[in-house]
Amino acid sequence: MQANKSAAKGLSIGIIMDGNGRWAKKRGLPRTAGHKKGAEVFRDIIRYCNELEIASVTFYAFSTENWARPEAEVRAILALFGEYLNMAYDYQKENNRVVFLGDRSPLPGKFQAQMADIEEKTQNNTGTILNVAVNYGGRQEIVYAARRLARQVRQGALAPEDIDEALFGQNLYTAGQKDLDFVLRPSGEMRLSNFMLWQASYAEFISMDVLWPDFTRKDLDRAIDEFNHRSRRFGGL
Ligand code: IPE
Ligand code: IPE
Ligand code: MG
Repeated sequence: MQANKSAAKGLSIGIIMDGNGRWAKKRGLPRTAGHKKGAEVFRDIIRYCNELEIASVTFYAFSTENWARPEAEVRAILALFGEYLNMAYDYQKENNRVVFLGDRSPLPGKFQAQMADIEEKTQNNTGTILNVAVNYGGRQEIVYAARRLARQVRQGALAPEDIDEALFGQNLYTAGQKDLDFVLRPSGEMRLSNFMLWQASYAEFISMDVLWPDFTRKDLDRAIDEFNHRSRRFGGL
């Protein structure tokens, strides 16, 4: 079904993939089973975003706060991410430009090398931009941008007065991309949990009562439909 295609084309959306643990708990399964099913949904929704010609989609996969979880769970999530990296080369065929958002330095060296390689191989692709946020935090990203700018000022390459919103945005992980139109959070939660604080500044927030592992293409249709019924005023009338 692609009833939404004209309404979806060109949108920039963020998805906080949430509810994996609750999904598993409801079934008496270990939390990791929820992450596994969630990863399958993630791969299908990417394809659907391609079909809908979404301009960019950002998936929140692992936050800077998620290290606080038990070590075994963190390890399982990172292992799934590793599996995903092995498959991500397919996005070359699908014309996605893949960008990883977040601080990669604590990730295994092999992952870091694959991430750089995937980004390089897909950098000229013209389809949906696929951002994957791993060890990502909105505040961490803002600090990262501030440091980059501070270094340029110290080198004498930039005057503090030249720093404006556009330049700041160009120093974020999402440089060159447009701001989010909406943030979608399944699992019924109503918070951003440190997701894209800069890029979501005027995004519509859409909370949905479905757990991420149960999320379907129809749910994305519903979210897009809801977005298209919102009245966006950007401070005007
Ligand atoms: C989201 O699902 C996945 C990650 C944060 C990595 P959760 O694991 O947060 O699932 P709930 O919120 O406990 O149900
Ligand atoms: C946000 O979900 C992070 C990701 C989906 C990767 P969490 O489940 O970690 O957020 P909180 O703890 O409910 O705020
Ligand atoms: Mg959660």
